[in-house]
Amino acid sequence: MRRQVPLLILVLSLTSTFGQVSYSIPEEMERGSLVCKIGQDLGLDFLRLKSGKARIHSGDSAEYIELNKERGVLLIKERIDREILCGETTPCALHLQMILENPMELFRITIEITDINDNAPCFASSETRFEISESAVIGSKFVLEKAIDADIGVNDIQSYTLNPANNFALKIENQADGSKKVEMVLQKPLDREHQNQISLLLTALDGGEPRKSGKMQITVNVLDANDNAPVFTKSVYKSTITENSPRGTSVITVSASDKDGGSHGEISYAISNSKRRLSDLFQIDRKTGEVILIGELDYEKAKVFQIDIEAMDNGGLSDSSKILIDITDVNDNSPQLKILSKSDAISEDSPHNHVIAMLSVNDPDSERSGEVTCNINDDIPFKIHNTMNGFYSLVTEVALDREVASQFNITVTCSDKGLPSLSSSVTLTLQISDVNDNSPVFERSSYEAYIVENNTPGLSVFTVKARDADWNQNARVSYILEDSSVNGVPVSSYVSVSADSGVIHAVRSFDYEQIKDFHFRVKAQDGGSPPLSSNVTVKVLIQDQNDNPPQVLYPVQTGGSLVAEMVPRSADVSYLVTKVVAVDVDSGQNAWLSYKLQKATDRALFEVGLQNGEIRTIRGVTDKDAVKQRLTVIVEDNGQPSRSATVIVNVAVADSFPEVLSEFTDYTQDKEYNDNLTFYLVLALAVVSFLFITCLVVIISVKIYRWRQSRVLYHSNLPVIPYYPPRYSDTLGTGTLQHVYNYEVCRTNDSRKSDCKFGTVGSQNVLIMDPSSTGTMQRIQSEKNILDEPDSPLEVCHKLLI
Ligand SMILES: *[C@@H]1O[C@H](CO)[C@@H](O)[C@H](O)[C@H]1NC(C)=O
Ligand SMILES: *[C@@H]1O[C@H](CO)[C@@H](O)[C@H](O)[C@H]1NC(C)=O
Repeated sequence: MRRQVPLLILVLSLTSTFGQVSYSIPEEMERGSLVCKIGQDLGLDFLRLKSGKARIHSGDSAEYIELNKERGVLLIKERIDREILCGETTPCALHLQMILENPMELFRITIEITDINDNAPCFASSETRFEISESAVIGSKFVLEKAIDADIGVNDIQSYTLNPANNFALKIENQADGSKKVEMVLQKPLDREHQNQISLLLTALDGGEPRKSGKMQITVNVLDANDNAPVFTKSVYKSTITENSPRGTSVITVSASDKDGGSHGEISYAISNSKRRLSDLFQIDRKTGEVILIGELDYEKAKVFQIDIEAMDNGGLSDSSKILIDITDVNDNSPQLKILSKSDAISEDSPHNHVIAMLSVNDPDSERSGEVTCNINDDIPFKIHNTMNGFYSLVTEVALDREVASQFNITVTCSDKGLPSLSSSVTLTLQISDVNDNSPVFERSSYEAYIVENNTPGLSVFTVKARDADWNQNARVSYILEDSSVNGVPVSSYVSVSADSGVIHAVRSFDYEQIKDFHFRVKAQDGGSPPLSSNVTVKVLIQDQNDNPPQVLYPVQTGGSLVAEMVPRSADVSYLVTKVVAVDVDSGQNAWLSYKLQKATDRALFEVGLQNGEIRTIRGVTDKDAVKQRLTVIVEDNGQPSRSATVIVNVAVADSFPEVLSEFTDYTQDKEYNDNLTFYLVLALAVVSFLFITCLVVIISVKIYRWRQSRVLYHSNLPVIPYYPPRYSDTLGTGTLQHVYNYEVCRTNDSRKSDCKFGTVGSQNVLIMDPSSTGTMQRIQSEKNILDEPDSPLEVCHKLLI
């Protein structure tokens, strides 16, 4: 607002030619405003002005002022701005000349322009910015732009204010040149984190009336200083992770915050534990704070990890925290079995509960995954005891028997109770060592061996075999012939036993006719200590060979004697002439004799019973038949090959002894007996003729008796024996047989059924073996005995004949 302050300074120069007046007017007066009454002041009336053609000369300056001649006043022609006109220069004046003519007069007019407060303080820019670090110290000064006010003097800037004045205070310093230095002084620390931008308003006030002001917006950007350390969100982080988690598994993500901005707020994370192990296992992402597993976790090695972590900003401030990582167990360990001690072999007589092996088992897993139970395969006689925690002993459950099982594979299986359960096993091989607890056992309880007589000595007869269930030496069986005697001779002279093989050899050649069987014992003994043995009876049966020809007992073949059977001419058909009696000391088939007529004087007259050797007439005897009949009978046994004997039977067909005698004289002549013999023969015939007749009487009487009893005899199928001793009839009468007659018992007609039994007589006679002759019997004593028996009926007859 402008206010006109007309100030009239009248300086009158009393020289007529020159006058000088000064005035003072405020600037900014309206056009047409009165500056001064120049005419009046200079004493000039308007006529003079008019006549003098008064004019204003302003030199080169613009025409701010005009002259109104009628009124004799100076008026504002152009608005005057002091600031334009003079700027800072004071005082500011317009120098004008008023020139009059007729006469010419010059007046100097000085118009001082006075300032009015028409300009407000003004800042060059309405806004200014500061970047101030929050770490700026108190008292730091920041120079502010000064405001400019074109006015001068009191209208110039008088004061500044800064709002708000929390952090900063204004400091105005007057400088030597009169100007002012405006500064902003930090009064209170900046905190970017609290206020990162401060807006201030700087106001410049002048002293005009009214006061004008200029404002400038000051924006203070509080620059971050790294005044804040990063701060972890937690002082302890906790996480769990299962062991054996794959690499790359994220364990946890930690975070820290930093109130600082920019790079000061950029946090990098690090694991601060220097232990290598940890850095091998875990890695933290520098930027994200994610902890990643990079190694293998084993619960059994470490159950918990404490990782010290650090967060650091770019300014080097840091915070630390820790992560507790619990490892959860996974049943990843099978029980570990360790054999502490074991026996590879135990003796089969070890008592039960004998400890075979000690084992320890360990499962590093925890809880049920680490609880272990051990078992063994159940088909074996062992058991496993948990002796102490984690220690097991394997013991025998029952007494062992190597012969049942000599080796055991004991599989110990230990399993934990985890889900799924893990197990491991170990197999022990246990040998059962042998104890000589089994005696040899013969394959059979007794043996019978057959040996054909006339064997070569040394022949292996038979093999006995005993088995021993034990092992090796304890099972090495040797065979021993036990001492005994056979017929008074040590058995070792009969047989020998091969100790190793059990082969029984005949030591000598056997003769069936001498010994038919014998027995002995063989002992089998093992090689144990002490040895065990068992024995067995071996019965050796000698088998017959047809090594003996039949022996003709009757009729006796004497060298020179004349023996003939008498056949009466009245003899009927089937008259029993005689009976050829033969024995064969062999047995069975070999002693089964058959009789055949080999040669005969008259084949039509006689026949020989094939089985019984009875010579009978085939037809009735006629007178034509020669007295002297000679029959050759061959006795054959049934052996292979068969052996035979021949016997010549002389038959006299005659009614009377002389007839016979006459005939047999020729007969003897035929036989070329010498003459002396003839004499003795006749004499002998004469002597025995009586006895012969007596004998005939006896025979006839027996025949009659036999005829009466024939029916009984035939029914009983008893063999028909033609000759009976005189006392034979007694046997029927008393039923007591007083003597045993071999030829009776050797029933040749029934020899298949029975061997020849020598009975009481024969049994006393020993068959004598001649070692030089292979088994040939020299003589059969028993046959003699039969003949030597004084009461033998045969002998009676022979004697008669002789
Ligand atoms: C024990 O194992 C061995 C070897 O595997 C085998 O030869 C033997 O026959 C087994 N013994 C038994 C009694 O199973
Ligand atoms: C033969 O064995 C039997 C049992 O079989 C025994 O009684 C006997 O004493 C043994 N004989 C010898 C001589 O060892």
